[in-house]
Amino acid sequence: MPQRAYVIDKLISAKSIAARIETLSHEIEAEFAGTSKLVVVGLLRGSFIFIADLVRELDLPVEVDFVETSSYGNAMESSREVRILKDLRGDIEGRDVLVVEDIVDTGHTLAHVLHLLNSRRPARLRTIALLDKPSRRETDISADWIGFEIPDEFVVGYGIDYAQRNRNLPYIGTVRFIDPA
Ligand code: IMP
Repeated sequence: MPQRAYVIDKLISAKSIAARIETLSHEIEAEFAGTSKLVVVGLLRGSFIFIADLVRELDLPVEVDFVETSSYGNAMESSREVRILKDLRGDIEGRDVLVVEDIVDTGHTLAHVLHLLNSRRPARLRTIALLDKPSRRETDISADWIGFEIPDEFVVGYGIDYAQRNRNLPYIGTVRFIDPA
């Protein structure tokens, strides 16, 4: 599929993201106060910048692990069929676990990962998503903490890609095509 020409319109600034993460980190610290260890599980690849900033704000004993799921490829639509490409390295039985997602869109990815991790009997399993597109939901899943609710727009930046591009933008922007479809 040839790449279409597009521009990126800024939606959420780097400053707003940092401020929101600081607020959320206090809520997470309150929830997990007294934990012996919180396993923070990032969903690759879109959450890699978010998890890096989030764990540095968390004043808790933290271990970091990752799961990679199949992605959209170069498309903009969810395939709905979620496959685990890379599983956790560590055991989470009896552990406190926080799953970190970039965007909850249809919700299939998060539902699949939560089902899998729940089957391993963690003590507590909570979820945080930087972005939420509730109008796109096809499952009854919702994250425990949300950074920002956004409209049904395709976004990039702050770790999130379009066909593997634009992950390194420090802000979140919407993709606007400037050529005829
Ligand atoms: P879901 O399974 O439909 O909820 O999709 C979740 C995954 O789709 C996210 O973790 C992202 O990787 C990807 N995704 C959803 N919306 C967007 C977007 O607007 N831009 C880039 N990736 C997206």
